[in-house]
Amino acid sequence: MVLVVVVLILFLATVNGDNFPSLLTTNATLAIVIDRDYMTDEHDMIKEAIETYLVYAKREILKHGGVNVQYYSWTGINVKKDITALISFASCKDTWSLFNAAREENLLHMAVSGSDCPRLPQNEAITVPLIEKGEEMPQIILDLRVAAAYKWDTVIVLYDYTLKRDMINRVLSGFTIESSDIQITGAAVSLIALETTSKDPNSRKIVTSKLSLINTELVGTNFLAIVSIEMVEILMNVSTTLGLTNPKNQWLYVICDTNLKKVDINHVKNRLKEGDNVGFIYNTTVYDSKCTGGLRCHAEEILHGFTKALEQAIIEEAGAAVQLSDEEWEAVRPTKLERRDFLLQNVKKYLLDYGVCDNCTNWKLQAAETWGKEYEKGSTSLVGDLLLVGSWRPSDGPALKDQLFPHVTHGFRGKNLPMITFHNPPWQILKFSENGSVAEHSGLVFDIIKELARSLNFTYTLRVSQSGYSEAKITDNNTMRLTKFKVLEMTDLLTTNIPSEIITMIRNKNVAVGACAFTITNEAKEMINFTKAISIQTYNFLVARPRKLSRALLFMYPFTTNTWLCLAASVMVMGPILYFIHQASPVYECKGIPKSAGLSSPQNCLWYMYGALLQQGGMHLPYADSARLVVGTWWLVVLVVATTYCGNLVAFLTFPKIDIPITTVDELLAHSDTVTWSTVKNSYFEKLIKESPEPKYRRLYQGMIKNQMNHNDMLYEVEQGKHVYFDWKTKLHYYMKKQFLITDRCDLALGNEELFNEKIAMVMAQDTPYLTLINEEINRLHQVGLIEKWYQNYLPKKDRCFKVSRITEVTNHTVNLDDMQGSFFVLLLGFVLAFMWLLCEIIYNSYQFRKKKKLQPYVT
Ligand SMILES: *[C@@H]1O[C@H](CO)[C@@H](O)[C@H](O)[C@H]1NC(C)=O
Ligand SMILES: *[C@@H]1O[C@H](CO)[C@@H](O)[C@H](O)[C@H]1NC(C)=O
Ligand SMILES: *[C@@H]1O[C@H](CO)[C@@H](O)[C@H](O)[C@H]1NC(C)=O
Ligand SMILES: *[C@@H]1O[C@H](CO)[C@@H](O)[C@H](O)[C@H]1NC(C)=O
Ligand SMILES: *[C@@H]1O[C@H](CO)[C@@H](O)[C@H](O)[C@H]1NC(C)=O
Ligand SMILES: *[C@@H]1O[C@H](CO)[C@@H](O)[C@H](O)[C@H]1NC(C)=O
Ligand SMILES: *[C@@H]1O[C@H](CO)[C@@H](O)[C@H](O)[C@H]1NC(C)=O
Ligand SMILES: *[C@@H]1O[C@H](CO)[C@@H](O)[C@H](O)[C@H]1NC(C)=O
Ligand SMILES: *[C@@H]1O[C@H](CO)[C@@H](O)[C@H](O)[C@H]1NC(C)=O
Repeated sequence: MVLVVVVLILFLATVNGDNFPSLLTTNATLAIVIDRDYMTDEHDMIKEAIETYLVYAKREILKHGGVNVQYYSWTGINVKKDITALISFASCKDTWSLFNAAREENLLHMAVSGSDCPRLPQNEAITVPLIEKGEEMPQIILDLRVAAAYKWDTVIVLYDYTLKRDMINRVLSGFTIESSDIQITGAAVSLIALETTSKDPNSRKIVTSKLSLINTELVGTNFLAIVSIEMVEILMNVSTTLGLTNPKNQWLYVICDTNLKKVDINHVKNRLKEGDNVGFIYNTTVYDSKCTGGLRCHAEEILHGFTKALEQAIIEEAGAAVQLSDEEWEAVRPTKLERRDFLLQNVKKYLLDYGVCDNCTNWKLQAAETWGKEYEKGSTSLVGDLLLVGSWRPSDGPALKDQLFPHVTHGFRGKNLPMITFHNPPWQILKFSENGSVAEHSGLVFDIIKELARSLNFTYTLRVSQSGYSEAKITDNNTMRLTKFKVLEMTDLLTTNIPSEIITMIRNKNVAVGACAFTITNEAKEMINFTKAISIQTYNFLVARPRKLSRALLFMYPFTTNTWLCLAASVMVMGPILYFIHQASPVYECKGIPKSAGLSSPQNCLWYMYGALLQQGGMHLPYADSARLVVGTWWLVVLVVATTYCGNLVAFLTFPKIDIPITTVDELLAHSDTVTWSTVKNSYFEKLIKESPEPKYRRLYQGMIKNQMNHNDMLYEVEQGKHVYFDWKTKLHYYMKKQFLITDRCDLALGNEELFNEKIAMVMAQDTPYLTLINEEINRLHQVGLIEKWYQNYLPKKDRCFKVSRITEVTNHTVNLDDMQGSFFVLLLGFVLAFMWLLCEIIYNSYQFRKKKKLQPYVT
C-alpha cells in the first residue's frame, strides 16, 4: 500500500475584523480526512467540492468567526489537541480507528462511510452511511441492533423473495458482526427461506411446514421476518396457530414492498392478540424528482450544518464574553466537551430539520401494543394497537421515541388488570370501608401480586366475589383480632371448591387473575389453569397433649400389679411355713426351752413375716436353726425387694409418668376404641384418604365421624383426649394459639406425621398467554425465599406451647405433696380398717362374755 501524503494546511485569516482571542471557536480548526485509498476516483472531486463550499460558507455563514481547515488524505493522522472538529471520508474500519484515536480529544467527529457500518456513538459523533438506493435494509437492521432496539443473541430469519439473494449475506452480517467498539456480541442466526408467495394457494401449508420445524429451545425465540406485505398476514396467522407468538417470543417484521398505495399496515391489527410481542419496520420511501443524495450532497450538507452550528456557538460565546472580564470568562467559558456537545446537537438538529440528502428514503417503525388490552374497559374487539415508535433515515439513522418491543422492556406498561378476590386469611386479607369498598388488602396472595405488579409493571383493581362471604366484612377494628380466627373457620372450604362465579369471570376474561388461593385439583384444572403453587400445605392432626398421670398411687408404680400380688401371696405362704417348721422342730422339747409366744400361732407368724418384709424385724427370733434358716432367707428376699422398690420409687418421683401419646396415624388407629376423629367435611383431605390406595388411610376414612361437629365442642373433646382432628398444619397452629390465649395452658399438640401435600395456587384463564411469565416470577420468588418469608409473617407467633418439649418439663420436676399423698391414703385406710376391726373385736368380746355368763354354774 502506497500512501500518498498530501498535507494541505490552509490558514485562513478571520474575515471580519472582530477577533475574540480568548475564544477557542473563533479559531476553530477543522480537520478533513479524505482517504485516498477509499475514495480512489472521487478523492479529487470531493476535495474540490469541499474547498468550494468552504469559501461559500465563510462568506455567507461564518460572519463572526473563522475556521482553519486542515486536509489529510489518509487516516493515520496524529490528532492534535487544537482540532475542534473532524470530517472523515473513509472505510468503516478506518472510520472507527480514527474515532477511537480522536476520542480523548473531545472533538466533533462527522464521518461519511460505506454502508453496513455500525454508526459511531450517536451522542459523540455523526455518521452518514452512503447507501445505494433500495439497499438500505441491512443498514437498518444493523442500526437498530446498535441502538439496542432489540437485544437478541439468537435470531431466526425468515425471508421470501423480497430479500434479494445478494442481500442475505449483508443482513446476516448485520447480526453476526462483533465489535468491542459498539459493545455488541454476535447473534446465532438460523435462516429459513419461505420459498412461496402469497399468490400460491398452498402458501399457508408451506409456511406451516417450515415453521413447525422450528424448535425454539434450540434456535431461540426471536424471529425476524423479511417478507412482503401480503405474507405478513399469512405468517402471523400460522405463527399464532403454531403457538409461536407468545409473551416470550419476539417477532420483527421487515416489510420492503410497501409503497405509496400500500403504505398503511393497519390491517395487521386484526391479527394481533393478547400477549404478542410484534414490531414492524416498513418502507415509506417515495421517490420523486426532488430527491437528491450521494457523496457530494452529504458532504455539503454536513459542512453546512457544521458551519452554521459553529457560527451560532461563536455568537453565543461572544455574547457571554463581552459581559464578563477576561478572568471571569476564563472561569466560566465552556470546556471543549461542552462545546462539542453544543455543536453536535446543532448539527443534528439541522440535519433533522433541513436535511434533504437521501431524505426520500424513509422507513417507519411501529410496535404492537397488546398486553392487557383485553381487560381494558370498553375495549373493542380489536386486541392490539399499533404505536409509532420512530423512523429511520440514512443520514441520522433510527430516531426512536419509544421501545420497538415495549412489552419486553416495560412489561404491561402500567396497564390496569382487574382481579377477583375475597376474604380468606391468611391468603387474602381484605378490610372493607363503610361503603363496602376494599380499603386495605394484604395476605400472602397480595404480597405476591404486589411483587408481580412491580416486576411486570401493571396496576390492578380488585373486585370482590359476592358468593356469600359478606360475613367476612370486617369494619370494626376491635373485632378484627377475634374474627381472624372465626373467619378461618368460616372459610374452611374456600380453598378447595372454587366458586362458580369466579370461574365464570375468569373464563369470560372479565378479570385477568383470580387473586385467591385455591387447592390445585384435577377437576378444576379442566376449567381454569393454576399458577405455580404459592404454598404447599401439609396435613396434620390435633391431639391432646399427653398429660401426667395422677400421682396419688405413685408408691404403687415401682411394682406391677403382678409383683404386688406375688409379694402378698409369698407373705401369706411364708407365715404358715414358718409356723409349721417352728412347731415341728424338736429342738425346744429336747433342750427344754419354751417356744417363744410370738410365733405360737399362724397369725403371729404371718405378722412376723410381714414385719420382716417392711424391715421392722419381730422381737422373737426362733431358737431352732431350721426356723432361723427360713427367717434368714426371707430377710434376703426382703433386702432385694425393698432395695428394688426404693430405687424405682426415686425414679418415679423424678420422672413423672406420662400418658402414651398418639403421634402417628397407626397409633391413632390402634386407639380407635377410645378415640374418635374427624376433619372438615368435603375437604380435599377427606377426598384424599377416601381415594388413597393405602389401607391405613382408607381405614382412617371409614372410622371417621362424618358429621360436622361444632367447632368449640370439637376442640373441647380434643383437649379431653377423646377426639383427634385432622386439618392443615397451619390451621391447627392457629387453633392451638387460640386455645392457648383462652386457657393459658398448652393442652393441644400436633402429631409427628405430616400427611399429604396440598398445593395452593392462584387461578387464571386457560388460554391466557401470561401464565408462563407469572410462573417464572413465582419460581423466582420461591428461589429467593421471599414467599416463605411472607408466609411466616402470617403464621401465629411461636409461644410456649411450641417451645415446651416434654423433656424439659420433666427434668425440672420437684417432689411435692402430690407425690406422697398415696401413702397417706394408705395410712387412712389402715386407721379405718383398724377401727372396724376394733369394733369387731368389741362385739366378739361382749358376745363371748355373755356366752360365758350363761354357761357359769349356779353358785349359791
Ligand atoms: C487565531 O488565529 C490567529 C491567526 O492565525 C492567530 O494569530 C491567533 O493566535 C489564534 N488564536 C488562538 C487562540 O489560537
Ligand atoms: C422501498 O420502497 C421504494 C419505493 O417503493 C423502493 O424503490 C425500494 O426498493 C424499497 N426498499 C427496499 C429495501 O426494498
Ligand atoms: C388462519 O387462517 C385460517 C384460514 O384463513 C382461519 O381459519 C384461521 O382461523 C386463522 N387463524 C388465526 C389464528 O387467525
Ligand atoms: C424528509 O422526509 C420526511 C418524511 O418523508 C419529511 O417529513 C420531511 O419534511 C423531509 N425533510 C425535508 C427537509 O424535506
Ligand atoms: C412501566 O411502564 C411505564 C409506561 O410505559 C414506563 O414508563 C415505565 O418505565 C415502566 N416501568 C418499568 C419498571 O419498566
Ligand atoms: C368509599 O370510601 C372510600 C374512603 O373510605 C372512598 O375512597 C371511596 O371512593 C368510597 N367509594 C364509594 C363507592 O363511595
Ligand atoms: C385499633 O386498635 C388499636 C389497638 O387496639 C388502637 O390503638 C387503635 O386506636 C384502634 N383504631 C381505631 C380506629 O379504632
Ligand atoms: C392450561 O390448561 C390447559 C387445558 O387444561 C392445559 O392444556 C395447559 O397445559 C395448561 N397450562 C399450563 C401451563 O399448565
Ligand atoms: C425449673 O423450675 C424453676 C422453678 O419452677 C424455673 O424457674 C425454671 O425456669 C425451670 N427450668 C426449666 C428448664 O424449665
